[in-house]
Amino acid sequence: MGTKPPVLISQERIESRLRELGADISRDYRGADLIMVGILKGAFVVLADLVRFVEIPLRIDFMAVSSYGMGTSTSGVVSITKDLDLDIQGRDVLVVEDIVDTGLTLDYLLRTLKTRGPSSLSLFALLDKKEAREVPVDITYRGFEVPNRFIVGYGLDCGERHRELPYIGILEEEKGY
Ligand code: PRP
Repeated sequence: MGTKPPVLISQERIESRLRELGADISRDYRGADLIMVGILKGAFVVLADLVRFVEIPLRIDFMAVSSYGMGTSTSGVVSITKDLDLDIQGRDVLVVEDIVDTGLTLDYLLRTLKTRGPSSLSLFALLDKKEAREVPVDITYRGFEVPNRFIVGYGLDCGERHRELPYIGILEEEKGY
């Protein structure tokens, strides 16, 4: 007890990458009717930090989904447990995720949001666990590629633990973190 998961991506690296991506978003969406949609729970930290590096007007909304997967993997059966408050028809929607793993959640979510008629629909993902992908997902703004390991911190959990870590860590379960 008391030992924290080892650092994979430091707080400083996350901040500087978010600063770059925030500038990209500010440039790409200038004049747009931007709604940034955070997917709960994992994206709450990255969304909060990212919006402070975006220098154009925007609105924020949240969705929550649950996948009927066991343990650390997802099954592709996804249900919306909290829907958007805002109408996205004719708006420019940027979905903000902490991680894309198998891609099943985002594939479902993006297809669902598309049926609501947004002007544009893109994806920001802080982390891309490319090796684990089962269905292709188009990530417009990507923070970092990560190895196929159990990633925690900066919003990501293991059994609801570690979300508060200010960095991205790797869980080494054998050590009991
Ligand atoms: C994570 C992440 C994505 C999903 C990605 O959420 O935030 O929504 O898994 O996995 P996939 O690419 O394999 O579908 P999680 O289900 O852990 O819920 P949480 O955000 O509430 O922790």
